[in-house]
This record gives sequence, structure tokens and C-alpha cells, in this order.
Amino acid sequence: MTGIEPVNDWTTDWDHHDPAWVNDPFPIWDDLRQRCPVAHTDRYNEGVWLPTRYEDLSAIAHNPAAFSSGHSGATAGGTRPRAKFPPIHLDPPEHAEIRRALLPFFSPKRIEAWKPAIEAHCRELASGLRECTDVDAAADYASHIPAAAIAAILGIPAADGDRFRGWIHALELGDNDPDTRDAMVAEMSEYFGAHIDDRIANGGDDLIAHALKIEIDGQRLDKETIQRILILQLIAGIDTTWGVLGASLWHLATHPADRDRLIAEPDLLPTAVEEFLRAFASVSLWRTVTEPTTIGGATMQPGDTIMMAFPAACRDPEVFEAADEVKIDRARNRHVAFGAGIHRCLGSNLARLELTTAIQTWLELIPNFELRTDRPVTWAEGAIRGPRSVPIRIISPSTA
Ligand code: HEM
Repeated sequence: MTGIEPVNDWTTDWDHHDPAWVNDPFPIWDDLRQRCPVAHTDRYNEGVWLPTRYEDLSAIAHNPAAFSSGHSGATAGGTRPRAKFPPIHLDPPEHAEIRRALLPFFSPKRIEAWKPAIEAHCRELASGLRECTDVDAAADYASHIPAAAIAAILGIPAADGDRFRGWIHALELGDNDPDTRDAMVAEMSEYFGAHIDDRIANGGDDLIAHALKIEIDGQRLDKETIQRILILQLIAGIDTTWGVLGASLWHLATHPADRDRLIAEPDLLPTAVEEFLRAFASVSLWRTVTEPTTIGGATMQPGDTIMMAFPAACRDPEVFEAADEVKIDRARNRHVAFGAGIHRCLGSNLARLELTTAIQTWLELIPNFELRTDRPVTWAEGAIRGPRSVPIRIISPSTA
């Protein structure tokens, strides 16, 4: 945890790195939604807004002309130029061209083809874990599945997983430690630079080779743009999915009735996964205001930054009945865990496949487990939320 000043007033001085937010942001967001639906802080950039209502977040996400995705991010103590990763940090019209070029790789059909490999990996991990009594569902299971899946799609070694997690950790703390963040971005660029050189020399059929063939207006992309695209593909899919998966297993470890119901009614799993995505939404992003605008009573000026707390929108009781409860059979669930509008998550098919496969395989191989109470559940800090440690005691593994 970084050495930050504790927050005294969440309406005027919120901080997504404060331990209270990191450990349990839901009461903070519930309170803000009622008292001050668009909060503000001066701790980052030249000031950052925090809308907490579904309606306001949705309005911003659907208005890219007034709310730019460029210059995204928060930096303690003023603004500092940050690397931009296409397509998430591009605005129209450039955004659509890169997104369109990547879409075929993430279509439902292309993603479904990865199912056997993802399932085999989950089975291998869970088979190893069920030999033990005490395991960490976040560190030993959830963190590995998305890293291996995106490594396979990119065509890079899954054995580099620890490096990927190191980069993600540095980016997570980068709002307060921009030097380390920038050093990690340089390291990732070098890593992908070497892979790009290899594909230029030897070809391939992975996402790196595909990115080399992208043409916009008849022109190939320059190497730096390709490096940035690949960095985003790597980092966008790992801690985001790891966060929701770790939190889902935490929920099942503490709610045996839900766990037993999912084992008895496996057809309910896709509905339960949507509820886990809503209740444990992991991703907040950023926008920059481009024209004077009023949102939820707050008047914003060009250059202001907004934190797009999609997880707060997913807990808005105006839209979700009993929003702070996890209902694994929730029928109406128009959550925005994957965002909304033109930047809606490109990897949602992959994330859903990973979550469903990983939970199903865990329940098959480790149907009876509980949370250890002698060690804490710890959470990632910053804009991507999820447990980093979920200590589990396996009561009786299945013999499957
Ligand atoms: C549970 C897991 C995930 C969650 C909750 C999630 C959430 C999000 C959200 C909220 C956005 C919108 C960003 C914005 O509005 O600025 C987004 C965009 C994006 N996500 Fe995900 N994501 C997940 C998994 C993945 C995976 C597995 C990948 C790919 C490997 C991925 C790749 C992307 C990309 C490339 C974008 C940018 C799309 C664009 O700008 O057009 N995500 N994601």
C-alpha cells in the first residue's frame, strides 16, 4: 500500500488507493450516490470527477465527442503525459479503424475454438490444487487462467506469466508511482518489439502476426503502434478477468448454498457468471472532458478528468434490485461491467469463456471448500479491482 493521506471527505477528496476503498468500496459508492452522485478529488491530475450513478456513467460512455478517451489515467500531483494504447485511448474516427481490425480475432467463433485449451489448463491447475488442503484461489488459480489464455492468442510463452503479473502490479500502483509505470511500459515495448521482429522474419498465425498485417487507408501500422496495441491486449485481459474470477470463488467459498446450487444446476452457470461480472465488476477507466458539460449536477470544464467507475454503476439500486446482494439467478441484468458505447470490451467473449470454464472446472474438481479465517483476503488497489489473495481450505476434493 502506498503512503497516502487518509480520506476525510469522500465527496471532495476521494482516493481509489485509500485502504477503505481498496478493501470495500461499496458503502462509499452507496453513500456518494445518495449525497453527492458526482464526487471530486484534487489528488490526481488537475482534479478528477467520480460519477457513481448508472445513468450518468452511461451518458458519458455514449458521448465520445464530449468525453475523450485520449490522455487517459490519473497521476498523483498533476498531469504527466502517459503512453496511449490503441484502441482504448483513441477517439473517433481513428478508434473504429483499429477496433474493426482486431474484432475478427475476438469473435464468438474464434474465441470458442480456445475452449479445449482453456479447459485443459483449468483442469491441470485444479488437479494440482486438490492435492493440497490450503490453497490460494486468487494467486494459485485465478491469476494463471487469463494470463495463459491471452499468451496463447498472442503467441507468446505462457511461462512468462510472472513477468506479465509484475508489469500489471507496477501499472496498478502507477497512479502514485509514474516513474515505475513508465519503466514498465518501456520494458513491455521491448518485449513485444522482439516478438514483432521474430514474426517479420518467420511469419506466424497468432495475434502478433495478425497485427502486422493491419492496414489503415492502405498503410501498414508503424512498429510503435503495433507494440502499443499488443501491450493493451496483454494487460487488458489479465487482472480484469483474474479479479472477477477470484471474487467469484471468494463468494462461493463464503456462500455454500450458492456453491451447491451451481453444482446441482450447472445450466445456471452462465446466469451466475453475469451476476459475478455485475457484482464484482473489476474495471474503471478514464475520460477527459472536451466541452463544458453538466453531468449529475456537476459542471465540468474542458481538460477535466473523469473516473469511469463502471463497478459503481453496476451496484446502482435504481437499476438493479437489491444491488448489493449477489443473486446467482438474477434474471434482469443489464450490467456495464464491460463498459458501454464504442469502447465496450473487445474481449468480453473471451472473458465469459474463461470465467465459465474456470468456475465449472473448479466446482467439478473441488466441490467442497471454505474460506480460511486465519488469513486475510487482500485486494488489488487502483482502477482495476479484484482479490489478490483468497485463502481457501479444501474440505474434500472430488474423485473425478
Ligand atoms: C472480466 C474481464 C473484463 C472486464 C470486466 C473488462 C472490462 C472492460 C471495460 C469496462 C472496457 C471499456 C473501456 C472504456 O470504456 O474506456 C473494456 C475495454 C476493452 N477490453 Fe476488456 N474487460 C475484461 C476482459 C478483457 C479481455 C479478456 C480482453 C482481451 C484480451 C479485453 C480487452 C479489451 C480491449 C482491447 C478494450 C478496448 C476496446 C475499445 O477501446 O474499443 N478485456 N474492457
